[in-house]
Amino acid sequence: MSSDHKKLIEVAMRVRENAYAPYSKFAVGAAVETANGKVFTGCNVENAVFNVGVCAERTAIFKAVSEGGQHIIRIAVVAEGAAPCAPCGVCRQALMEFAHDDVEVIMANTAGKIKVRPLSELLPDAFRLKR
Ligand code: THU
Repeated sequence: MSSDHKKLIEVAMRVRENAYAPYSKFAVGAAVETANGKVFTGCNVENAVFNVGVCAERTAIFKAVSEGGQHIIRIAVVAEGAAPCAPCGVCRQALMEFAHDDVEVIMANTAGKIKVRPLSELLPDAFRLKR
């Protein structure tokens, strides 16, 4: 594993502790890295009205964009489970919007299992708005 991966996973693991997930009890942490080397973190934030809740990845993506980081090169996602945590379809689409060329998606579980895939492989033939 590269030190880039390790660092981003550690940050995602730490922010996961802030997850607000009283309904699913499934805490997720994410960290995105932008082309200029900045890192933005996010956790899932649930709501009593279930569909108001948001995933950890989108929390991190929207934090990056709102701080001026529109060129995402890498994301790490961490949750508990037998397999590394894969981002949901909605988050894949959200990520595609701000992909700097491609995005390296680092999926991890709390036990340290890791899987790395390019976003282009996780979301093939992605929709793009041609004007
Ligand atoms: N969740 C994430 O934050 N990221 C994922 O990649 C998968 C799912 C959250 C949404 C919800 O709060 C909980 O995990 C259960 O689906």
